[in-house]
Amino acid sequence: MYKKTSTAAAVAATTCLFLIVGGCSATSTGKPEADKPEAAKAAPKAKAVDYAAMSPKALAEYLIFESGSYELDQPTQEGTNGRARLTQDDIQKTCSLMKGENLSDKTREKVSALAAASIKYPEDGIKLGDWKKGRELAWSGFGYRTAHNPDDHAKRATGGNCYNCHQLATDRTGGNIGPSLTGYGKIRGNSPATLKYTYEVIYNPHTYFACTNMPRMGATGVLSQQQIADIMAYLLDPASPVNK
Ligand code: HEC
Repeated sequence: MYKKTSTAAAVAATTCLFLIVGGCSATSTGKPEADKPEAAKAAPKAKAVDYAAMSPKALAEYLIFESGSYELDQPTQEGTNGRARLTQDDIQKTCSLMKGENLSDKTREKVSALAAASIKYPEDGIKLGDWKKGRELAWSGFGYRTAHNPDDHAKRATGGNCYNCHQLATDRTGGNIGPSLTGYGKIRGNSPATLKYTYEVIYNPHTYFACTNMPRMGATGVLSQQQIADIMAYLLDPASPVNK
């Protein structure tokens, strides 16, 4: 029954649903196509395809990139567009191919090298910033959401979202997808090697943990070098609650 289902029909049905929710119906106005507001115009006709004959990967790619069901040209806050957000880069492609299986040494080396090459270091060396600012950032997941309104980054800094995956300090409860970072500075000290390692992990964790779940906060431009320095201070400064 799913064979040769026309995507145009599916898209039209979805469009209708939005219009009904919005309280208006394109079909009831009876206006000629040219007079309709841009959003209400019929979606461009996608060619009928045989879903059943497609591999899951081909179907996913078709639905995302060709069926017209995503607004791929929609601008994103990081200055790209929807298509760029959905297109995998080399690290993502390599890791997706592994399908969660153990990485071979060759793949691990390839991913780590790509990650290491992405890291940009502060011109005046890696230094700790302000742990209080870092604490705000580590406990915030704000910014770059694909919701209805763009996030106002001028009013509120983008967060690092660290708390979602890490237990950080003993005064609040964090997640456990990643290892606990409580006492991070107390355990590791403040040597240049620790600073470099911590900066690199936050900037692009694939450098050390190929195909990790941890996001690449510096490499993707979510956190600036200064924000990384502040979060590092939160992890490493002896005065920070992480080390109390
Ligand atoms: C989506 C989950 C996730 C988020 C968000 C996340 N991490 Fe991680 N992090 C991990 C995982 C998982 C690991 C362990 C590496 C691995 O095995 O993949 C890790 C490892 C680390 C390590 C290395 C720990 C060690 O023992 O050497 C540090 C440091 C770290 N994360 C800091 C951070 C900071 C700071 C943030 C916020 C800017 C953050 N992480 C955000 C999942 C996350």
